[in-house]
Amino acid sequence: MVKKIILDTDPGIDDALALIAAVRCKDVDVLGVSVVAGNLPLDTVTKNTSAILAALNSPARVYPGASGPLYGKLQDASDIHGPGGLGGWRPPPDASRIDSCHGAEFIARTAAAFPGEVTLVTLGPLTNLALAAEHFPGDVEKLAAVVAMGGALGVPGNVTAVAEFNFWADADAAAVVLDSGFSLFLVGLNVTRNMVLAQEDMLALTRGDAVAQGAARMIEFIVANEGEYPFHDPLALTAALKPEFFTWDTMQVNVETRGTLCRGQIIPCKDGERGAAIKIATGADYRRCRDFLLDLWLGGV
Ligand code: RIB
Ligand code: CA
Repeated sequence: MVKKIILDTDPGIDDALALIAAVRCKDVDVLGVSVVAGNLPLDTVTKNTSAILAALNSPARVYPGASGPLYGKLQDASDIHGPGGLGGWRPPPDASRIDSCHGAEFIARTAAAFPGEVTLVTLGPLTNLALAAEHFPGDVEKLAAVVAMGGALGVPGNVTAVAEFNFWADADAAAVVLDSGFSLFLVGLNVTRNMVLAQEDMLALTRGDAVAQGAARMIEFIVANEGEYPFHDPLALTAALKPEFFTWDTMQVNVETRGTLCRGQIIPCKDGERGAAIKIATGADYRRCRDFLLDLWLGGV
């Protein structure tokens, strides 16, 4: 059965890799892509999303959302994602597919149009979903599930010692989402740092079509500059499409929103403490994830 999804994203290199995989998966119907400021400012992530979807000949439209966190200023990660935000891959933007409907409203209206059928996959700060929950609560509750890339439970963060970027960039939005009662599946750094590609995988991408070559350039850029693979968002997307590739635990958690040193940290609840009951990915079959994603980056299965 074809799975209806919305991607909420801030491309950024790993977001772009997740977008390519989602659009090229024949079992997925990407109903639209809402964008949020995070890795880069809103106008850049909007342009990049339009360019990626155009390169893929996808009919999906782009819905610009929040230009910063619920409170305070955007602190982006532009230094990591290179020139233009896609590691030197520069597909031409397509302004014609950028919609005037706000990303948060698009999420809400689409959830209401297909009650119980739509999975929202969030790949950036949770600002758009938090805004949707605050302004359209009766609609977003009709989402089938939310699969979110975020958090660093039991492992070091990638912004501070304890916080992962998406939760750190808008901890208040993360708290709103945790409190909203969504069927939430969290895919954090404890899982997303552990997939690698072999040399022959990279060679296959460089011999693929223009999009596969773009994927290779983006991966090479991050590996050369950060010394790790950019598979956070692609693995979160894989968890939404192939949850059986992952192991899951149900936990009660809260997120720190005020601490200067630990803003964005996920705090498991002690017995009896009030928190959000969510499913957290605790492991993955990385070979199956790699096979699945590589096939999609090379053209689709
Ligand atoms: O911490 C990794 C997450 O933050 C990824 O979604 C990456 O794109 C950035 O948004
Ligand atoms: Ca992202």
